[in-house]
Amino acid sequence: MATEEISETKASSSLLATLREKLALKPMWEKLTWTWKPETKREAGDAVVRNFVLHWFPAKVSLESLSWGYSFWLGTISAVLFLILTITGGILMFLYVPSVERAYLSVKDLEFSTSYGWFLRGLHRISAHLMVAVVFLHMVRVFLTGAFKNGRKAVGQNRPLNWIVGVALLLITLLLSFTGYLLPWDQLAYWAITVGTNIASSAPVFGDPTRFILLGGTTIEQATLIRFYVLHCFLLPLATFGLVSYHMWRVRKDGGLACTEKRYEEAKKQEQPAIASKTYSLLGITGGTAVDVQNVMIDDEEDKVPSSPYLTVRLAVVTLATTIVSILLTLLVRAPLEEAANPAVTPNPAKAPWYFLWLQELVTITTFTVGGITINGALIGGIILPGVLVAAAVLWPYFDKSPVSSIGRWFPKERKWQNRVFLIIVAAILILTFIGTYMRGPFWEIYMPWQEWEQTPRRF
Ligand code: HEM
Repeated sequence: MATEEISETKASSSLLATLREKLALKPMWEKLTWTWKPETKREAGDAVVRNFVLHWFPAKVSLESLSWGYSFWLGTISAVLFLILTITGGILMFLYVPSVERAYLSVKDLEFSTSYGWFLRGLHRISAHLMVAVVFLHMVRVFLTGAFKNGRKAVGQNRPLNWIVGVALLLITLLLSFTGYLLPWDQLAYWAITVGTNIASSAPVFGDPTRFILLGGTTIEQATLIRFYVLHCFLLPLATFGLVSYHMWRVRKDGGLACTEKRYEEAKKQEQPAIASKTYSLLGITGGTAVDVQNVMIDDEEDKVPSSPYLTVRLAVVTLATTIVSILLTLLVRAPLEEAANPAVTPNPAKAPWYFLWLQELVTITTFTVGGITINGALIGGIILPGVLVAAAVLWPYFDKSPVSSIGRWFPKERKWQNRVFLIIVAAILILTFIGTYMRGPFWEIYMPWQEWEQTPRRF
């Protein structure tokens, strides 16, 4: 199949080349684009092995793992968004001043006087929101395809570990976004961080000290701004870069995306019944019946294609599409900037950033009074329940006993109840986020999305 594809590509590209030559476009076209195509499998392999960046990828990948409908390329989109954030964030650092007196004014300058400053800030902000959403969706797809499980017992395979690295990446992505939220130092920023850190402080024993360390005191002030700035611009991006690099290296160590396991399962089914000569001996190797030889044969099967150009072209398409969508959204949705932060004026309602609104809702739901005793919702909804969710996510791969045949497939029958439980939790998080975002008005009362409420009434 791969050979057919290569020869088809060759046929169409030579037709194109002839056409271009006929139209005398070749020199110009070649100057403007990268027209290189490998002539042989060797050349394709060398292109990957000899290149510093491409060296990260294997020389060959399974065609199925490149399909658009299996992974939706959500991991790659997350990585591209992180790249956009690093580039735009790096430029923003030249223009932003992390001091309580100057922060708001420097962001205002970006919005209204620096050339294309609004665009730079907007692109950074939109990519940050998109990254939170896309990383979450990537986790959902990994879970639903059972891609956190080991398949064939290949040496060094440890998908559960990569899933745990993923959980850490999701938490760091949330923290990255949260720490960035404070930097504009406007009312939205100040009060979102106030609500967020208040939830964190309700943890028993560690709550208050954690808030104190994070804020650099008991209130949000200069010490908080500089802490959030260093975390946001240096420590958390560095941690993300290190973990993403390890995460992607692990995908390779784990034998590629989990959908490749299906090949091994199919190969196992077609395996001849145990024959007398099946052996680990020299005889088995020459006869092709030894386990190692069979593994090699499967590894080298025909559904694999050279990473260059098959993977590289798709990577380029995903990178380009992610960049274009982020730019279009930046042009459509202007980044908000409210009045400068004012600790004396509390907006009503005061909301956490949108990705923590399901927590704020949980806090509301779990705060109630029984027989004159008020149950502390911040502890149950803000700490215990999310803590249980994170712990369950970390431990899940070790308790999930679904069969190997369910790995790397969407909605397999064998994982019906696991996927149902997971989807119910995801749906609950999404519904609570929706309620928190669109249905909570002044004094945290419920309003229908189409109902108006008086804009930002003040509570002093
Ligand atoms: C900054 C965040 C993240 C980045 C940049 C990232 C990147 C990637 C990439 C590029 C891949 C391979 C291609 C693909 O599946 O799209 C991948 C696979 C994987 N990711 Fe992530 N990821 C992130 C977060 C997560 C999270 C939150 C989880 C789960 C909690 C996770 C678990 C996994 C697993 C288990 C695989 C292997 C999937 C398979 O074998 O099919 N990742 N990731």
